[in-house]
Amino acid sequence: MKITLAVTGGIAAYKAVELLRALQTKALDVQVVMTEGAQRFVQPLTFAALSGHRVITGLWDEQILDEASGATPAMEHIALAQSTEALVIAPASADSLARLAQGRVDDFLGSLYLATLAPVIIAPAMNVRMWEHPATQANIALLEARGATIVAPNNGALACGMQGTGRLAEPSAIVEAVLGVLHHSEDLAGETVLITAGGTREAVDPVRFLGNRSSGKMGYSLAEAARRRGARVILVSAPTALRAPIGCEVVPVITADQMRDAVFARLPGTTMVIMSAAVADYKPRAIAEQKLRRSGPLTLELEPTEDILAAIVQRREPGMLVIGFAAETQDVFASGRAKLMRKGVDAIVLNDVSREGIGFDSDSNAATFLTASTAADLPEMSKRALADRILGEVMQLRRPQRLMAETGSHTPSILPTRP
Ligand code: CTP
Repeated sequence: MKITLAVTGGIAAYKAVELLRALQTKALDVQVVMTEGAQRFVQPLTFAALSGHRVITGLWDEQILDEASGATPAMEHIALAQSTEALVIAPASADSLARLAQGRVDDFLGSLYLATLAPVIIAPAMNVRMWEHPATQANIALLEARGATIVAPNNGALACGMQGTGRLAEPSAIVEAVLGVLHHSEDLAGETVLITAGGTREAVDPVRFLGNRSSGKMGYSLAEAARRRGARVILVSAPTALRAPIGCEVVPVITADQMRDAVFARLPGTTMVIMSAAVADYKPRAIAEQKLRRSGPLTLELEPTEDILAAIVQRREPGMLVIGFAAETQDVFASGRAKLMRKGVDAIVLNDVSREGIGFDSDSNAATFLTASTAADLPEMSKRALADRILGEVMQLRRPQRLMAETGSHTPSILPTRP
């Protein structure tokens, strides 16, 4: 499989050498493109020797010829745009982001970016202030909105001597993102996936609510990944600070009751439900009409909300896969398995939220994908990558069903892992 690695100008350019090696270990044939700035940091010869291909350094470079197509130099960007299966831009400098966002075509990378229909993966690296600047953030948002997968930079010591976000993501994270877009292209085509995300809010009075720490990132990543893999996606979202994923039907809700109604209304026709939302288990029995005043101790009387997940299982149509989430702080495995059995779902994505740095509000997460008969360990990775792994596991559950449909089997139970 042939992909393109575009290296832009920045001190992290040397890390692209390691990235190239990491991509090659996944049997990817990598064509390297370097901007002028990149060549000031690393010699093209390094990449040429390691990739086994001449490095493309400019639009007007007389020496470059697409080896496969024999394209003339002037048409090189078109030939590569058509033959490459992914365009990875790493490190992406602040300037290159700005140029790509503007659609400039006065260098090879800009032309290639506009001319290709292949998925684009961008791993930025720069000084923290440059990264945080609204101009850069706007460029990132625009590129993401146009379909690029952004592998966000890490936090840590920067080459400029400052601390903060701006370090190029680890090669393993970039490789994961590349494999994510390459291998799963359309395997969810034909599925209608209903995903819930975010944390519901239960009003106490006109200004206060009972909420939780869910950021919605996991659910949104799942929605994006499912959409990218060809599914029709309905995202029922409790309040989050996240941008709506492109191409998904987003249904905003606030309370657990609203989420239940929104989900139930959309169950017909849904083939897969993933309940990643953190749904309130209790709500105030009564919402105060006026703002509650401070006057000594206050007792709120709460009543349980409906368990949406358990109710979905009761209502599900044949073939519908139902996946729950479980955030546990103790006896994680046993609690997860008990929940799986109690709720009657096909699988539970089990999170140990007592672990630091992952889970709530974090960009990374680790989980165990638990079915009645299996437990797949999904080690710490970005939520984006984890979303793809989870969907991969879900599709494992689907496979026997599809096989039976293809072979015309009339076995009544088509959900082998249902507890
Ligand atoms: N869930 C739901 N409706 C609720 C509460 C939770 O559908 N009212 C779903 C969550 O979206 C998640 C799963 O149930 O997919 C497990 O949520 P969790 O809060 O961990 O479990 P609980 O049912 O609350 O069980 P417990 O309180 O025993 O942990």
